[in-house]
Amino acid sequence: MKKNTIRIGMVGLGMIFRETYLPVFQQGRGRIKLTQEDNPYEIQLIGVASQTERSHSTIREQFGIPCYAGPDAVNQLLSLGIDALCIATPDGTHHFPALQGLRHGCHVLIEKPSVLSLQDLDVLEEQSNCSQSMARVVYHKLADPDHKRLRTLVGENVLCHVNSGYCTLLEPKSISQGTFAAWVSGRNPSTYVAVHYFKLIDFTFGPATLAIGWKLKRIGCHGQRGIVGPSQGSTWDSVQNHITYEHPDGREATFDIHTSWVNPDNFPGYVDQEVQFRFDNGTWNASQRKRGVELVVDGLTPIELKTNINNHYNACLMDPWGPKVTKGYGLEVLERFFAEIAHVEWDGSKGDRNTRLNQVKSLSYADLSGDRNVVAMVHATEAILDLASQGKPGGVVEVNGEHGGLVLSLPGVEERVILYEKPI
Ligand SMILES: NC(=O)c1ccc[n+]([C@@H]2O[C@H](COP(=O)([O-])OP(=O)(O)OC[C@H]3O[C@@H](n4cnc5c(N)ncnc54)[C@H](O)[C@@H]3O)[C@@H](O)[C@H]2O)c1
Repeated sequence: MKKNTIRIGMVGLGMIFRETYLPVFQQGRGRIKLTQEDNPYEIQLIGVASQTERSHSTIREQFGIPCYAGPDAVNQLLSLGIDALCIATPDGTHHFPALQGLRHGCHVLIEKPSVLSLQDLDVLEEQSNCSQSMARVVYHKLADPDHKRLRTLVGENVLCHVNSGYCTLLEPKSISQGTFAAWVSGRNPSTYVAVHYFKLIDFTFGPATLAIGWKLKRIGCHGQRGIVGPSQGSTWDSVQNHITYEHPDGREATFDIHTSWVNPDNFPGYVDQEVQFRFDNGTWNASQRKRGVELVVDGLTPIELKTNINNHYNACLMDPWGPKVTKGYGLEVLERFFAEIAHVEWDGSKGDRNTRLNQVKSLSYADLSGDRNVVAMVHATEAILDLASQGKPGGVVEVNGEHGGLVLSLPGVEERVILYEKPI
């Protein structure tokens, strides 16, 4: 049997690597998978790079592969001959390794948020087109069965014409003050987690689901400080985004997205997540903690184990027919990326590779070309919070208006800041 191998390099070995990538690499090792057209392939982690040597001994022990640290680590990793580069480094550091990977002709997968500005997105998109490789971003919430069902009801016009909604995702203090302590300074929880909901809204209610154009119009945000950093500093405890779209009939839809990373650590779930969407003819209400399970164990819950557990994301469980495995939509989206690579590379002749590549690139759930609205929201949020930390709060960014693609105005100030000139 002909066997094709995807040689994978990993940049960043932190929390998300341990929760989702590591089980995919551990469980995928030596396993033959089949492409859409039944061609066999396998995935192989062949090297890793990170800022420090933390986790290197575990990786060497488990995989016996080269581990690099320091400023030249990504170049050293790429010199091994990589087909797919996965990037899970802190939010503001994705652009450079992604560009390096694309320049080497690798397919690249980036943890959300892909990049923090439309200018950086343009550079990556251009390089991906030039290298004829994929540049994709991970949005696992699109693969959550509840969100797939929501999209189905919207796509089939059972739920008609979204009017407004709210989403909330509150992370515990241990994230901002422990896990991310090394890079949290100057950062905000919106860019970190509101992006999940920016994408969910954009993808579910936009042209990816309905054959209609709807336009992103305005982006606003406010935030609070004083717990993770100083009350007048540039590190944010919580952020509230206010996002407005326009339907093709001219009616507007507005969404509030509230995020924080200062929720108490003894909260009964890992995070507090809720969404509510209101339509002309109905509502969709979802609380992740109300999916049904409540677990209580003496001395373990709610710190070491959580009371409300999400068994759909990355649960470690015993199948009735076999040993313990880790499964869930957090892993499924990563496996899907490798399956897409295998399809592009091996499902047909070399001459038709571009056709297959373009077909996969047109799947906007993950391609950087489908991430423009989300990056616009991140870009605007970063700029509004930056001005707010300089004592100029209340900024609003208009999208594709008469003065440019992304234009920031402050209340009572005539002058505008052009964040991005071209239409987004
Ligand atoms: N898909 C999700 O739901 C999800 C969940 C958590 C985090 N994330 C995203 O994943 C990314 C990483 O988050 P995390 O929780 O794993 O963070 P983390 O702080 O736990 O780990 C970061 C890792 O990146 C490495 N690193 C830092 N700077 C680097 C650099 N310049 N070059 C190479 N390596 C570098 C660190 O050594 C560490 O291994 C972030 O962008 C975050 O938003 C996504």
